[in-house]
Amino acid sequence: MRTITTRGDGSGPELDERPRPVPADGQVLVRTLRVGVDGTDHEVVACEHGGPPAGEDRLVLGHEAVGVVADANGTALAEGTVVAPTVRRPPNGTNEYFERGEPDMAPEGSYVERGIVGAHGFMSEYFVSAPEYLVSLPRELAEWGFLVEPISISEKALGHAVAARSAFEWNPESALVLGNGSLGLLTLAMLGSRAERTYCLGRRDRPDPTIDLIEGLGATYVDSRETPVPEIPDAHEPMDLVYEATGYARHALETVEALAPNGVGALVGVPGDWTFEVDGGALHRELVLHNKALVGTVNSNAEHFEAAVETLSALPERFLDALVTDVVDLEEYERAFDDGDGTIKTAVEFDTL
Ligand code: NAP
Ligand code: BGC
Ligand code: ZN
Repeated sequence: MRTITTRGDGSGPELDERPRPVPADGQVLVRTLRVGVDGTDHEVVACEHGGPPAGEDRLVLGHEAVGVVADANGTALAEGTVVAPTVRRPPNGTNEYFERGEPDMAPEGSYVERGIVGAHGFMSEYFVSAPEYLVSLPRELAEWGFLVEPISISEKALGHAVAARSAFEWNPESALVLGNGSLGLLTLAMLGSRAERTYCLGRRDRPDPTIDLIEGLGATYVDSRETPVPEIPDAHEPMDLVYEATGYARHALETVEALAPNGVGALVGVPGDWTFEVDGGALHRELVLHNKALVGTVNSNAEHFEAAVETLSALPERFLDALVTDVVDLEEYERAFDDGDGTIKTAVEFDTL
């Protein structure tokens, strides 16, 4: 079967042939439909994050997948069920985080991530998985099912942010997303029903399809070159909730200045090393005297995937059509990794339902 792999030497994705996997006892065989590409995939291809399984020189890419059960292999999961796989697996046997259904909270060393670090991903015509790592979705959502994983990231992040404000009465009205990449835009769409006024920060000139999307969602575009994050409260309003998805390390700390009293910032970007100066005293004081919180969050579990299926089913088709700028056939996989002008979200199509 055909797979898309990376060698982990910065040479880019490649089309590769591998034997079709045979499900072990307790596993099902899934026929892959579509697999999305995000900022993390670009980081993996550029060797900035993750890597192949121990002892191997290539990694099968892809962690945002949707497929259909082709061989139930005696499990309770019916053939023909449309499924989205979760990303983390235990490295050796199992551990308490997986047993609790909270692999997303596992510390480094107690998980691998399919398509990212230490385990092959889903960019192959077939993959195998235990049913407990597969979340089913309605057949009519199959074409957008590769968005379940990224939406689940924000289900978790927003859930943790809200939980950090659960000790008191908190009714967020204003929400700001930092970053107009695919994750930022998906989250902006999710926030439409969770905040009265929404904003999204980018660094692009008009005309730009992401700015059209932002405004189409009824949100306000903020250009970071004109309005740096700390100036947002004066230029617009202080934010009850900030969701950071730029991976630009300064934004993580500047988020505190953009927050309203009692506000919370969820940080999901994954930056490289960067040393810069910060007024630590002001930052510390601001967090304490105004009851602000910052929450870092990574990955997601099956419950977040289930919530994401609900969220996906409520997102308007015209938004999804504008967000997903390219779905390419397997032979044209390279186009899905092309981050050129006008590209927002791409996916590789392995097969149709
Ligand atoms: P992406 O496509 O690279 O999006 C990042 C966006 O931020 C880009 O559109 C970029 O604008 C914008 N940006 C960067 N620096 C900026 C600045 N200084 N001012 C304004 N805009 C700026 O990545 P993504 O797939 O949406 O993911 C977003 C981040 O989340 C990445 O760091 C990724 O690694 C991380 N991530 C984390 C998790 C998790 O579980 N925590 C899950 C998925 C992704 P331009 O395009 O104009 O440069
Ligand atoms: C994936 C997460 C993963 C994270 C860190 C993200 O792009 O969506 O599932 O935990 O990268 O590797
Ligand atoms: Zn991802």
